Amino acid sequence: MLEHLKERNRAWAARKVSVDPSFFTRLAGQQAPEYLWIGCSDSRVPANEIVDLDPGELFVHRNVANLAPPQDANYLSVLQFAVDVLKVKHVMVVGHYGCGGVAAAVDGQRRGLVDHWLHPIREVHHHHRHELEAIPEERDRLDRLCELNVMRQVRNVASDVFVQDAWARGQELSVHGWVYSITNGLVTDLGATLSGPEDLLQLD
Ligand code: CO
Repeated sequence: MLEHLKERNRAWAARKVSVDPSFFTRLAGQQAPEYLWIGCSDSRVPANEIVDLDPGELFVHRNVANLAPPQDANYLSVLQFAVDVLKVKHVMVVGHYGCGGVAAAVDGQRRGLVDHWLHPIREVHHHHRHELEAIPEERDRLDRLCELNVMRQVRNVASDVFVQDAWARGQELSVHGWVYSITNGLVTDLGATLSGPEDLLQLD
């Protein structure tokens, strides 16, 4: 079963060792990434590859539509470990244009459980409905919603108690909002970086 994948795995591990013989032994000893990536599960948005980082360099959490819901135990566990234990210096929420999750949140169709998961995006949509309704092309409207969703999640991360407590004890930590373009492979920084409680207070 899945022999082709196991074969590819063996070839990959061999390639890594041929370039750097101590690659895996060094990695096994310690994990010390400086970044937490919160991104979409979409197969076209592979975190490490996009920023060209090796194993060990990027802590990753992915879910449908790159959400940071303050009640989600999975996301919260990743965030706490990244902030409190790994002491990452940067958290980047990375959305992507053409996100199927974002589109599904607002197309009015019923899909089941995922409709509940995507509910925060409908709230973002409602909050920014005047701006969004003024955009004539649906594709552009959805792409803007992808950006607005990222900025909302950046705020969620920054207002979380784990991040607030880290800032209160003087830990260096910034939360960034990025959007990735599937069509050209490039990341756009939305300029929504929050690096302390005073940045959060300036919003709205
Ligand atoms: Co997506």
